[in-house]
Amino acid sequence: AYLGIDLGTSGLRVLLIDGNGSPIAATERHYPVLNPHPGWSEQDPADWIRALEEAVAELRQSCPDFAGIDGIGVAGQMHGATLLDAEGTVLRPCILWNDSRSHQQAARLDGTPGVQALSGNIVFPGFTAPKLAWVQENEPDIFARVAKVLLPAAFLNHYLTGDFVADMSDSAGTSWLDVGERAWSPELLAHGGMREGQMPRLVEGTEAAGILRPELAARWGLSGTVTVAGGAGDNAAAACGMGALTEGQNFISLGTSGVLLAARDGYRPAPETAVHTFCHAIPGRWYQMGVMLSAADSLNWFSRISGQSPTDLTVELGETLQAPGTVRFLPYLSGERTPHNDAEIRGSFTGLATATDRKALTRAVLEGVAFGLRDSFEALKATDAQLDSLIAIGGGTRSRYWLEVIATALGVPLQLPGRGEYGAALGAARLGMAAATGADPATIMTAPQISATVEPVAGLQSAFDDAYGRFREAYPAVRACQ
Ligand code: XUL
Repeated sequence: AYLGIDLGTSGLRVLLIDGNGSPIAATERHYPVLNPHPGWSEQDPADWIRALEEAVAELRQSCPDFAGIDGIGVAGQMHGATLLDAEGTVLRPCILWNDSRSHQQAARLDGTPGVQALSGNIVFPGFTAPKLAWVQENEPDIFARVAKVLLPAAFLNHYLTGDFVADMSDSAGTSWLDVGERAWSPELLAHGGMREGQMPRLVEGTEAAGILRPELAARWGLSGTVTVAGGAGDNAAAACGMGALTEGQNFISLGTSGVLLAARDGYRPAPETAVHTFCHAIPGRWYQMGVMLSAADSLNWFSRISGQSPTDLTVELGETLQAPGTVRFLPYLSGERTPHNDAEIRGSFTGLATATDRKALTRAVLEGVAFGLRDSFEALKATDAQLDSLIAIGGGTRSRYWLEVIATALGVPLQLPGRGEYGAALGAARLGMAAATGADPATIMTAPQISATVEPVAGLQSAFDDAYGRFREAYPAVRACQ
């Protein structure tokens, strides 16, 4: 059997799969995000270890297959900075991907000649290098003691193996990696005041990072050698879970944030479009993605202020897709990454009239998120990604109406997987299997069964195109008056 660990922002999930790759059992534990100041988002790495130990204890008890684990893979929330001193002690809470304190340091690094060319990406405020620049300026005593910087998944790799090892896909989100060469860049490290010795050793996600520490194996009741894979950042792991490994294999995720991800055979960075270009967890592959910060979160926000559940709000729209009305919603509640890279922009409704009712506002929210995804779609198309259809996942896909809005706004069919596992935890378990067996990743990382396809509503596509044009025009106008 193989164990996948998904170290997420709200909790840690473990999933056990059998030798054929079929899920056997899963469980999860939650932990808090700490917001000690506005814009700060931190976590105590000790909470991750506690969550892992508790989840493992539960699986061990409930599942006899646990004792037969041969391989483990970790998927992690990306970009977080876990700082260790020379003794391996954690120096401060981990600064997470959604922490925006270092936006000035990010802008400075992003404007430094050569940085975008080597890292292949804009230096977004959530990325790791600007976090360390912030620590250098604001917590110099801690900065001086930093012996290792570990992303959350690499921190768990260290707990599991005792070694400092990170995979390429996660490391690509640091702004310290030469993403085309798949190697730490001495030049990028120097711009951020860092040294290569402070970085973990790099391996591919499918390679072995090491062997499970004997002390841990004994405590968990595991005999034999257990291989720990390099692992992956959560989006690359989700791509492994959904079989998105090569050109034309894509997915859209409607979670708190929205992600549109396309697997790529080659390295074609396009920082000018604000897409992310990262190494895949598979050797010799990359992926590109557009990230919008408030996707399902926009509907959750409207749910809170309207006092209606997200389901009630979407159900009251009925079953027939309407053409966009005059109300427009800009979904920038937490700023935006793709295509604007704008941490300070905020959302808005425009076109309100005395006759505007709740349904019109809900529709505007669903359309605004779809148009934000269309921005990512256009940015990815500009890099020549093949986007003929997309697998759709995430909480937002529960609304058929919203799926039709998105399919029509993008002009592509959305494929819905049946019930089951296909997320980052499955991808992580599959990486554990690849590392332990050496099997070809393509044979392990297959696509899910598709249970339904949502087609664009042909008669409404030009109305959606027109509304998208007006959505595009609204951003600079709202920006100017903010
Ligand atoms: C990706 C990103 C998020 C986190 C969420 O760039 O910031 O998707 O990985 O865990």
